Amino acid sequence: KKVVLAYSGGLDTSVILKWLQETYECEVVTFTADLGQGEELEPARKKAELLGIKSENIFIEDLREEFVRDFVFPMFRANALYEGLYLLGTSIARPLIAKRQIEIARQSGADAVSHGATGKGNDQVRFELGYYALEPGIKVIAPWREWDLNSRTKLIDFAEKHQIPIAKDKRGEAPFSVDANLLHISAEGKVLEDPWEEAQEYVYSRSVSPEQAPDKPTYIEVEFEKGDPVAIDGERMSPATLLTELNRLGGENGIGRLDLVENRFVGMKSRGIYETPGGTVLLQAHRGIEQLTLDRGAMHLKDELMPRYAELVYNGFWFAPEREMLQAAIDKSQEHVEGTVRLKLYKGSVNVVGRKSPRSLYSEAHVTFEEDTVYDQRDAEGFIKLNALRLRLLERRGH
Ligand code: ARG
Ligand code: SIN
Repeated sequence: KKVVLAYSGGLDTSVILKWLQETYECEVVTFTADLGQGEELEPARKKAELLGIKSENIFIEDLREEFVRDFVFPMFRANALYEGLYLLGTSIARPLIAKRQIEIARQSGADAVSHGATGKGNDQVRFELGYYALEPGIKVIAPWREWDLNSRTKLIDFAEKHQIPIAKDKRGEAPFSVDANLLHISAEGKVLEDPWEEAQEYVYSRSVSPEQAPDKPTYIEVEFEKGDPVAIDGERMSPATLLTELNRLGGENGIGRLDLVENRFVGMKSRGIYETPGGTVLLQAHRGIEQLTLDRGAMHLKDELMPRYAELVYNGFWFAPEREMLQAAIDKSQEHVEGTVRLKLYKGSVNVVGRKSPRSLYSEAHVTFEEDTVYDQRDAEGFIKLNALRLRLLERRGH
């Protein structure tokens, strides 16, 4: 009877809105979130009103701080990378959207939720695992899996028939599918589908090309507390402000571009072009401060857990107990991850060039090549001999 739709204000979700009203004869509640995608939200309100949505059924929310504080930063404590390279920019946003949709459903007495993800991708899985984890009895409507508007022409015809305004450039086929938030912008599909063809410069919007980046390096200092960044160049900032600033600094220096063929959860491979300038800087910075402050055992265990954690986020299991268990272990490891990292940003690369911490485990007294008074080099002899014992016995036996 009532459905909460994740509504961007774009053509596709506007068609979905009308289609829901028509097919299910239900009242539609629209939910539009600002996750830092860099688009005005008020046009989405106007459009929803135009399509007959009552103002009490239009929800427009700025979720940028919650997104970075409760989703992006916890994930970065893990140094999460999917398949070695992908910083999970789309994956990490879906659980938050799902969570707010369910909360709005409860608040407005809706019994169903709906989204505009296709039946081929990861996003449908992420949205719906989130919905079901938080509201087991919720009804899910995924129009792309149900309707027959599977060509652009049919979609446009439907829009015209229902007086849905269509931007001029939307009449033709969009050249690729985009998803954006404060962590990244992704492009995939259509002109990008041949993985042998290099993506053209017009695909990129958040970073200059490394070739166009300044010939002089930019140095910045990032300060951490309990594994989270809290300040840039001595200035404390809120999570969303800080990530916005890292995006600017990274983007100006051509940092964070990625061209990747990845394995989707549903089984197929897909090719994506990603820009994650701030996240790429943050990952390096976080590893930089962990280098000083994490114990080896903790660090190596974390690195073993990381691919599991990344896969859970990618596959949409944010609200699953095993993700929460891993998060608890990761958060525990971050208690002393505090201090300052100096980074050099230059033509597409970001390198840690200095770090300091009041909680440092680095001991110059121990590691120095000069004479020291704290380490007895003779201790190493027994250490090596005992470690060699089984290797010697094996060799004696002939393995
Ligand atoms: N392939 C990436 C992922 O699965 C990006 C998905 C982009 N989503 C979109 N609706 N365009 O996380
Ligand atoms: C989609 O299918 O809606 C976008 C791609 C994905 O979710 O992986």
